[in-house]
Amino acid sequence: MDLKTAIQTRRSIRRFTTDPIPESAMREALSAAVLAPNSSNTQTWDFHWVRSTEKKAELVKACLSQSAARTAAELLVVTANPANWRRSNSHLIKWVRDVGAPKPVVQYYEKLIPYMYRSGWLNWWGYLRKIGLWFAGWARPVPRGPNTLRDLEEMAIKSAALACENFVLSLAAAGFQTCMMEGFDEHRVRRLLGVSRRDRVVMVIAAGKPQENGTWGPQFRVPMELVVHEV
Ligand SMILES: Cc1cc2nc3c(=O)[nH]c(=O)nc-3n(C[C@H](O)[C@H](O)[C@H](O)COP(=O)(O)O)c2cc1C
Repeated sequence: MDLKTAIQTRRSIRRFTTDPIPESAMREALSAAVLAPNSSNTQTWDFHWVRSTEKKAELVKACLSQSAARTAAELLVVTANPANWRRSNSHLIKWVRDVGAPKPVVQYYEKLIPYMYRSGWLNWWGYLRKIGLWFAGWARPVPRGPNTLRDLEEMAIKSAALACENFVLSLAAAGFQTCMMEGFDEHRVRRLLGVSRRDRVVMVIAAGKPQENGTWGPQFRVPMELVVHEV
């Protein structure tokens, strides 16, 4: 299936059949997920493929027993944690050196990324950065953040959401459908995954073969003129 058809036929499915998804299709979709564009290539996401029967049952409950979760053949939880930049950075520095990247690129990972993600006690470093950028911004355009933990989380969440879309489209291309869900109890989802409070649960994705009438109805979007602005 080509990309256009995958985009046009993807739907949020609330009832799946009992058909399984082959492991190869799941692995291919996970490989597509990590190819998503992401902030400075820091790859601050994690993908938790919940496969154990007990954990799945717990996750369904944490997803408020939504029918999409209850009937899904597979459940994937995507989390984001800005602190994961540290996990990637040594790999990135080695990689930019190995490929002989220009000096500014090497410095970007060696100096700018640690500077950008640094927060310090009570975020004193972030506030200092904010003041510095405010002054610098008088004379020229500057990036206005990230300055707070929330800004950093936002960056990580944006990238993880793009990975979710890649995952979903890859499964659509393989003939399976999904339902992205943000209707869940984040605290309980974190607990069952055994991840830290800094890990934000971005999405739980239910996946499988759609039942007939598995959607809530035909696909609907507001008129394009409402949302597309040519400036
Ligand atoms: C961030 C996000 C959160 C969502 N949360 C839920 C959810 O908790 N339960 C659900 O049934 N659908 C959920 N959806 C699916 C949307 O309701 C669905 O994408 C929207 O109604 C458009 O329908 P379509 O995907 O079939 O085009 C979510 C989608 C997104 C992107």
